[in-house]
Amino acid sequence: MIDNGFARPFLDRWGLFRADRTEGINGLRSIAGLLPLLTYRPDPDPMPDELWSPRRLNILIRELHLRSYLEIGVFEGETFANVKARRRYGVDPSPLFDAVLLPRGSTFAVMTSDAFFSTLRASKRFDVAFIDGLHTFEQTYRDVINTFSHLRSGVILIDDTVPIDEYSAIPDQEASYRARDEAGLEGRPWHGDVWRVVMLLDRHHPELEWRTMIDQGNPQTLVWRRSRAAIVTAASNEEIALVTHPTYTDEFAHGVPNYFHPTSESAALADCISSLRD
Ligand SMILES: C[S@@+](CC[C@H](N)C(=O)[O-])C[C@H]1O[C@@H](n2cnc3c(N)ncnc32)[C@H](O)[C@@H]1O
Repeated sequence: MIDNGFARPFLDRWGLFRADRTEGINGLRSIAGLLPLLTYRPDPDPMPDELWSPRRLNILIRELHLRSYLEIGVFEGETFANVKARRRYGVDPSPLFDAVLLPRGSTFAVMTSDAFFSTLRASKRFDVAFIDGLHTFEQTYRDVINTFSHLRSGVILIDDTVPIDEYSAIPDQEASYRARDEAGLEGRPWHGDVWRVVMLLDRHHPELEWRTMIDQGNPQTLVWRRSRAAIVTAASNEEIALVTHPTYTDEFAHGVPNYFHPTSESAALADCISSLRD
């Protein structure tokens, strides 16, 4: 680990140390009562259906010849390890994997996304980003705005933009779980109020284009600039506060609202690719 919180990957090219090292670390973590660190599983072939994020990102990377990938919120590294980009940058204050055994060409920052952007040099550019960190509306919107200021003419994929029900839409994660338990429902789906980001895109970002994929896998929204020269400026605090008024139940009473531009995964990717190729 380097002083500023960045970890440079150790290149275990032949994987000789990988199993032993992970086993040893997990032995010590178990004695300390900590969860095991998971090894990453790069490049499964074929890509399982549940890996919808790397599937979508890899199509964009391949078709648009994108090179540099940023992931905000990396968790166990499942998406991070399976995205095929030449350069990968990850940000997470509490990653749940061994940050030393990263895929080649990776840089990792163990910090919040706000801290990451505040230390990033102004000229740093990415081609494609996946925003999947803290699932609150305000934080996700800030991540979108900060990412656009470091994005070439590329695309952002935002996770969890469509809650599955009113319980998963409760912004506080613990409160969401409690309400679900009290309603006698199983599972732990939680999407928070990230959906308000799309409402804010609709109200304040005519310079952006987006599609929400709702047919296979977790709904996610793809966002890109309408024109290369478009400058993305954050909405004011008053404008941001206004989109906290509508409720999930009102907005989603008749399904996913039209302003989400809901569509299939293949149509969303095709629209984005043809728009960014023009
Ligand atoms: C849903 S998980 C990410 C899953 C991952 N993107 C994947 O596809 O496998 C959310 C992650 O966001 C991280 N996180 C929480 N707050 C954050 C913040 N302020 N900035 C960046 N990451 C954050 C959490 O530590 C957690 O690991």
